[in-house]
Amino acid sequence: MNWQDDAANILLANDRDGHTVPTDGLYPFQWSWDSAITALGWLTFDEARAWREAAVMFDGQWDTGMVPHILFHGDSSTYFPGPDVWGGGQRIPSSAISQPAVWATAIRMMYEAAKDKSLAEASVQTLLPMLVDYHDWWYRDRDPDETGLVRSFHPWESGMDNSPAWDDPLARVPPVDWEYQRRDLGHVDSSERPHKPEYDRYLYLVDFYKKNGFDAKRIYEGCPYRVIDVGLVAILHRAGKDLLALCRELHRDLDVSGIVAGLEGTTEAIHSLWSEDDSCFLNYDDIADKPLPFRTTATLLPLFAGLATAEQADRMAALIEEWLSASAFGIASTHPAEERYEPQRYWRGPVWLHINWMIADGLTQYGFHDLAADVRAATKKCVDASGFYEYFDADSGKGCGGGSFSWTAAVALYWLADD
Ligand code: GLC
Repeated sequence: MNWQDDAANILLANDRDGHTVPTDGLYPFQWSWDSAITALGWLTFDEARAWREAAVMFDGQWDTGMVPHILFHGDSSTYFPGPDVWGGGQRIPSSAISQPAVWATAIRMMYEAAKDKSLAEASVQTLLPMLVDYHDWWYRDRDPDETGLVRSFHPWESGMDNSPAWDDPLARVPPVDWEYQRRDLGHVDSSERPHKPEYDRYLYLVDFYKKNGFDAKRIYEGCPYRVIDVGLVAILHRAGKDLLALCRELHRDLDVSGIVAGLEGTTEAIHSLWSEDDSCFLNYDDIADKPLPFRTTATLLPLFAGLATAEQADRMAALIEEWLSASAFGIASTHPAEERYEPQRYWRGPVWLHINWMIADGLTQYGFHDLAADVRAATKKCVDASGFYEYFDADSGKGCGGGSFSWTAAVALYWLADD
């Protein structure tokens, strides 16, 4: 058996009747951006199943348009905080925040790669109005002042949970005053997971949304954590462009004026985050009103969105080259020269395959083909060395976190497999 079969078998094993869990036990529900990336993997060997993944996710869309970061399709004793703590959801119990909006990008890629064109067209036509609602929700509820930069209310919303960039804004959040039992430490060594003080604050925020009745205005005004996450902004922007392209081809009657305006706003506003000293776009603490000067992979994602100018892209490519040379296994999630770098701890250093794919995709858009190929080759070494873990120690390539992980298997199938 080659590793393509192994990767496909991981998706088959993690299939739960139409949605794919990231991995058994540690993450027993459907996570939004995992699901989108995973659908790209399904498409390589089961197109109907790939489209079903998307349909099931959008069944859980809120009436506001939000697509939650977790859909709780059932109960589970292996994960905390579960549906009772979050208390969100209409048709399906869910969390009350979203995650990087990579869905429209994944759907466009699936549409273009699909062999069964009539299934693809019918699926996309059904999904498009929901995708438009989703993107409208981001611009309306997360950027009510139309600044061009959507806000994020939780480190989990970034998908890069304990990134060093969130340390300082999170430290201002009060801890919860109730006892709880973490479940993640029953699956993964504590050296590879966030610390307790961070967890106390993650949970305070979860409580905060519920106490405020999930009301967008109250949360925007009162949430003690509010940041501009460059990764979130960039992924939404790229997906917005993909969404417009799909609408033009398949659903010209949809009102996309909110998305057009949102894209225009971001194209201009992103430059306020550019750091001449760091050669990348810095995340921003919207409450303290200051940049978060840490080179994390989020700061590179404007390349994926096509938001950087040609000169900025040149500078970023030089930075990426140097960043890549600091570890043998792809681009570390935090630059290894940062003081807060930890090669094995979750988003503080380890390599995540789907992020490296986004960076390589961005480099390709700007014509840096050789560097994109280098990123891919270095990332592939993680899988060659350790298989399909959640993430990889950036110094040693050792697999970390959960094993048999869906998005790792999926990225391997659609990006790393040889043609
Ligand atoms: C962790 C990751 C997040 C991912 C989730 C499920 O919370 O930080 O990005 O979506 O696990 O895999």
